[in-house]
Amino acid sequence: MQITLKASKDLSKLSSTCLVLPVSEKLDSVDEKQINAATSKLLTRLNTQGALPTEAGSSLLIPFAEGIGASRLLLVAKQSKTKKWANTALAALDKANIQEAVLAIASLGDEAESCRVIGQLAETRSYRYTETVSKPKKASPLKKLGLAAANKVSNKNALAQGKAIGSGMNVARNLGDLPGNFCTPTHLAKTAQKLGRKHSKLKVTVLSEKQMAELGMHSLLSVTAGTVQPAKLIVMEYSGGKKGDAPHALVGKGITFDSGGISLKPGGKMDEMKYDMCGAASVVGTMSTVCDLDLSLNVVAVIAAAENMPAGNATKPGDVVTSMSGKTIEILNTDAEGRLVLCDALTYVGKFKPASVIDIATLTGAVIVALGHHRTAVYSNNDELGQELMSASKTADDAAWPMPMGEEYRAQLKSNYADLGNIGGPSAGSITAACFLSHFTEEYRWAHLDIAGTAWPYNGSKAASGRPVPLLSQYLIDRC
Ligand code: BES
Ligand code: MN
Ligand code: ZN
Repeated sequence: MQITLKASKDLSKLSSTCLVLPVSEKLDSVDEKQINAATSKLLTRLNTQGALPTEAGSSLLIPFAEGIGASRLLLVAKQSKTKKWANTALAALDKANIQEAVLAIASLGDEAESCRVIGQLAETRSYRYTETVSKPKKASPLKKLGLAAANKVSNKNALAQGKAIGSGMNVARNLGDLPGNFCTPTHLAKTAQKLGRKHSKLKVTVLSEKQMAELGMHSLLSVTAGTVQPAKLIVMEYSGGKKGDAPHALVGKGITFDSGGISLKPGGKMDEMKYDMCGAASVVGTMSTVCDLDLSLNVVAVIAAAENMPAGNATKPGDVVTSMSGKTIEILNTDAEGRLVLCDALTYVGKFKPASVIDIATLTGAVIVALGHHRTAVYSNNDELGQELMSASKTADDAAWPMPMGEEYRAQLKSNYADLGNIGGPSAGSITAACFLSHFTEEYRWAHLDIAGTAWPYNGSKAASGRPVPLLSQYLIDRC
């Protein structure tokens, strides 16, 4: 979709197929007054008749609006949140099969903020899953959207950010939605490489199992032992900053299907474990946003991609492996595989001497018990970094919540046969998983996002959400 700013002094003169106006009973905004004056008090008359849409979520389409430049006028009840208002407006435009429209956003509050929110929303609304269905849901008829706002640099930047974040979310959603037999580690690698060919500042390298073995990544490789799909370590280096500036690092869990392995999961909802690569998807999506915005910083992204399957040669509970760090791990449960692939990716990323490292993972069912599907859990070994992420979460409207780690939880990972066990018992599962990772991240500022609750569903349906692309993108935007 094409979204542009339309600078205009008088809304009533603006030519468009449909002008979309926020309204409230008071009819006191400059925009409402201009339209009212140009239409022989149409809004006042509607209000007197009780026909002005004022209840949240309501709208009224005037198909022949006399006196104004636009052919039609869509009145949409003001709401406290711009996103909700815009959602109602865009849904009404779709319903009326309108291909071009201008939204009068001046009365919605901070213009730049509205540009951002609506840019992102319009972009994400355009997403359709098409790959494996004969008749995909039809695309929105809306092709051109104007935002009536001042032609200021701040508005332009905000709109560009919103669009780029929305588009990055769509990249992540599409990878998440793709079935496990399509979205394999190889497919993730190819997707990253394709992005690399599109952007000159992005270099993509893919390490094979052989190369990982040479690096000593036996924890990661233990997860892929039972599958025929080759595991991949995908490395994306974006150079938008000064040469030699320490990069910010993203590390994604890319389990393209998590059966649990020999510690096999129960059958119900097991299909949803195709989403177990949503951390990786959010990393690819964020890199796409970073490239679109041509951000002036260095970013390195590492994706640990593998499939977790049971087989005669699969890793067994009780097996002990040596990670790239040299620490040994007793694999007490092969279903706690995310931390096994991440620990080696986290050790690997240390070689870039990163300014910060954030890993993103659908790591535990326990985080859903703790925070539901609303907020992403944020863990960090550095309070400042934790606060930076919480602030990005707030700006980007991508909810998160800080979580604790500590010796008392770390103690739950003790093993008789290795330096660490890979599970910490039934209590505080999301916390002990984070604590496991903390053993591999002592050399740098690190945060861990457990997104098992927020990567899906989407608006209540079985679909990837594209989260936390907004949070991650905002974090990187804030570092520029
Ligand atoms: N991918 C799962 C976590 C998960 C479960 C995400 C449900 C979303 C919904 C992860 O690999 C896993 O299986 N974790 C185990 C850990 C346990 C064995 C310590 C879990 O949460 O049950
Ligand atoms: Mn698992
Ligand atoms: Zn998993």
